Amino acid sequence: MMRIFGVIGDPIGHSLSPRMHNAAYRALELECTYLPFRVKSEDLSEAIRGAKALGIQGLNVTVPHKEAVMAFIDPDPLAERIGAVNTIDFIREKGYNTDAFGVTGSLRSAGIDLGDKRVLMLGAGGASRAVAFSCVEAGCKLVISNRTKEKGERLADELGGSVTAIGLERERIAPVIAESDILINTTSVGMYPEVDKIPIDPDLLHEDLIVFDLVYNPQKTMLLGEAERRGCLTIDGVKMLVYQGAESFRIWLGVDPPLEVMEEAVREGLKDMYG
Ligand code: ATR
Repeated sequence: MMRIFGVIGDPIGHSLSPRMHNAAYRALELECTYLPFRVKSEDLSEAIRGAKALGIQGLNVTVPHKEAVMAFIDPDPLAERIGAVNTIDFIREKGYNTDAFGVTGSLRSAGIDLGDKRVLMLGAGGASRAVAFSCVEAGCKLVISNRTKEKGERLADELGGSVTAIGLERERIAPVIAESDILINTTSVGMYPEVDKIPIDPDLLHEDLIVFDLVYNPQKTMLLGEAERRGCLTIDGVKMLVYQGAESFRIWLGVDPPLEVMEEAVREGLKDMYG
């Protein structure tokens, strides 16, 4: 019997998840399909109940529903701690968060272990929570740098321990970045169509820095381009998308995801959409 999966969000038209998952099903000859569903916030509760009633096996949850959906599905301990669910399994009736795995998986694919690294994270929005959580779990020394400093401070307080927060000003970042192993951009700066924007002064980048940008559109953001020019190891946002999706796939189907197929599908999709 055909198993049905999907992603709910608003907007959802540009989601690359359907391409990525359907390519994986084809590669493994699984009788599954994956569809995008646009769900308005006021309809979220009904959408979840309806999906379950229709026998949909699993859903990814994206902006703006990741936090709100926790009221309608029981989160596992990790999702509970992150405060957001991005994967629902209707068979187990559980909500998961695979974004944290997306971070560690992306880094591991480049041969990097987060453990005891000094990380500077730019941003303190929705995408930042799972990143920050992964860093804390791995025992990193984490500094959060956000334009609105209070928001960064709030996240740092929530994470506890040794996490600190600073603003996004050059003079605050300079001494921290000099002492950092990994820079992770979780802001939306540099995203299409504002491709000529960069969240920090590129002259602060140094060749010992690993630079990971969660923005995947364009695949090579200005930040990654500047980092590459300075000899940094770079990781793009496609990796994050693939590794979080791969973990959802594993949760739902219990088999190893075809990572290369999924990555290729995302990169092809981006080419079709943005050239
Ligand atoms: P998301 O869910 O994609 O993370 P978000 O919650 O709106 O989106 O967060 C966007 C992040 O990008 C925030 O950290 C935001 O900084 P503020 O908290 O100061 O708003 C950051 N951001 C967005 N545009 C920015 C810009 N032009 N310069 C610096 N930071 C920016």
